[in-house]
Amino acid sequence: MKFSFYISPLLAALVLCRQTTEANSTDNEPTLPLSTDSAFNFNFLIALSDALTGGSDIAPVLAAAKDLKAGDMASFSQRFYKLANYTKAQAENPHNAGDPINVRDTWFSASQYFRRADFYLHGNWSNPLINSLWTEQTAAFNKAIAALPIPGQRVRIPAKEGNFTIEAIWYAASKNQNRKLPTLVIGNGFDAAQEDSYHYFVAQALARGWNCITYEGPGHPTIRREQNIGFIPEWEHVVTPVVDYILLEKSDMVDKDRLALIGNSWGGFLAARAAAFEPRLAAAILIDGVWDTYAGFSITLSPELMAIYEAGNYTQFDQEVLSQREAGKLSTNSAWALDYGLWAFHTHLPSGLFNQSKQYGLRDVVDKIRMPVFVGDAEFEPTWIGQPKQVADALGDKATLHRFTGTAGYHCQTGAYQELTRTIFCWLNKTLGKMEEKS
Ligand SMILES: *[C@@H]1O[C@H](CO)[C@@H](O)[C@H](O)[C@H]1NC(C)=O
Ligand SMILES: *[C@@H]1O[C@H](CO)[C@@H](O)[C@H](O)[C@H]1NC(C)=O
Ligand SMILES: *[C@@H]1O[C@H](CO)[C@@H](O)[C@H](O)[C@H]1NC(C)=O
Ligand SMILES: *[C@@H]1O[C@H](CO)[C@@H](O)[C@H](O)[C@H]1NC(C)=O
Ligand SMILES: *[C@@H]1O[C@H](CO)[C@@H](O)[C@H](O)[C@H]1NC(C)=O
Ligand SMILES: *[C@@H]1O[C@H](CO)[C@@H](O)[C@H](O)[C@H]1NC(C)=O
Ligand SMILES: *[C@@H]1O[C@H](CO)[C@@H](O)[C@H](O)[C@H]1NC(C)=O
Repeated sequence: MKFSFYISPLLAALVLCRQTTEANSTDNEPTLPLSTDSAFNFNFLIALSDALTGGSDIAPVLAAAKDLKAGDMASFSQRFYKLANYTKAQAENPHNAGDPINVRDTWFSASQYFRRADFYLHGNWSNPLINSLWTEQTAAFNKAIAALPIPGQRVRIPAKEGNFTIEAIWYAASKNQNRKLPTLVIGNGFDAAQEDSYHYFVAQALARGWNCITYEGPGHPTIRREQNIGFIPEWEHVVTPVVDYILLEKSDMVDKDRLALIGNSWGGFLAARAAAFEPRLAAAILIDGVWDTYAGFSITLSPELMAIYEAGNYTQFDQEVLSQREAGKLSTNSAWALDYGLWAFHTHLPSGLFNQSKQYGLRDVVDKIRMPVFVGDAEFEPTWIGQPKQVADALGDKATLHRFTGTAGYHCQTGAYQELTRTIFCWLNKTLGKMEEKS
């Protein structure tokens, strides 16, 4: 069935036009755009941001931005694959290998470029690059963290409820094995990998004397690939075993009264959900606050498409969404969100994705959250618009709502990690300091 069966062709054209121009328009963004395609602009900014912590070099990313045409997802992948191969060859060159800083930064960068190459590939689950690029990014990252002053340690933690194994990386802030330090537990959301977390939070936390453990659960990149499972709503089944692990295995190094959880991007939902069931956390940080996943996902499709879903016409909805995707009528961001969402939630049908998304909301658990919560909000947030305030309102005096604006106003403060981490660590110091005074 054709889209025009439901609404007139003219209206359909307007709807598609609105979606495409809106998602492409970089006019309202706070920085010089690196592409007319706002999705590409955002991806280039991620790659550039990681340069702060050795995860990229700036000119090669700008060169990719110069070469790539808006909307060409396949070329995006090939261009970063080429850069990743080049950087990997530099890392493997024995001439560079005597210097641990060379080894660390070059492998971190190669790893990051392999991740960028993977980003837009998930429309076809059988594409062998989905796994082969990931094997490359993981191997490159392992070489980089082995070259840190205190090497990162890969850990696998069996879940107690559910049939999966959590993938984690432990980073100690001190060589002294008997010094109890504050510790961050860090998790992502919809798409980012725990390898990304090193550049978003870990390097900055280690420099401030915080230990870190990053983790991945079901639906996250490595577990989706290796264990073949999509997201689960019961995120406490992922975070609680991680907290158990550090309190048991790293008890000499972890200050159990200063344990904080960070959820990045849609991980702002996952972390809040887990925090509701995990009283051992002294604080939680949501970058940003997510109240209702279905409401956010709905924004990625046109109101007309969502009306078909809401009316219960699931078969028509699936046909329309998939045929628009195939015909290249969705914006880059909507096309990516659909491709990636179907893969990460392990369903082939758009209605399956939207059905599942309804299970991921805070309404029923928010009352159980007892610790102080930092709730981030971003001026240019495209998906979770208005939701941080909903989370903060529901948490009442436990919440600190912080709106990042201007050049720090991109989703997850991409491009402004200094401002992000400055804000977070000041809040943690103030919040956990107050708790010490009380006790
Ligand atoms: C907007 O993005 C689409 C693909 O999503 C692309 O085909 C089109 O050329 C872009 N428009 C501009 C002005 O860059
Ligand atoms: C990267 O290198 C691999 C071999 O390791 C090769 O198969 C692939 O085609 C290269 N990719 C690009 C874009 O050059
Ligand atoms: C998906 O990828 C596989 C493996 O490369 C290929 O055989 C298949 O034709 C692709 N499917 C589509 C619909 O492009
Ligand atoms: C757990 O998963 C493994 C591998 O996917 C499977 O072989 C096993 O049967 C599962 N066990 C249970 C109890 O579901
Ligand atoms: C849903 O489908 C029915 C017939 O199958 C149709 O009458 C109705 O208009 C559709 N609703 C929407 C919102 O497309
Ligand atoms: C989505 O939910 C509706 C309503 O419960 C159901 O009829 C439909 O089969 C579901 N679709 C999928 C793919 O699970
Ligand atoms: C933590 O807060 C205290 C009290 O306000 C202040 O003296 C100290 O400099 C802060 N430390 C850091 C690392 O921010």
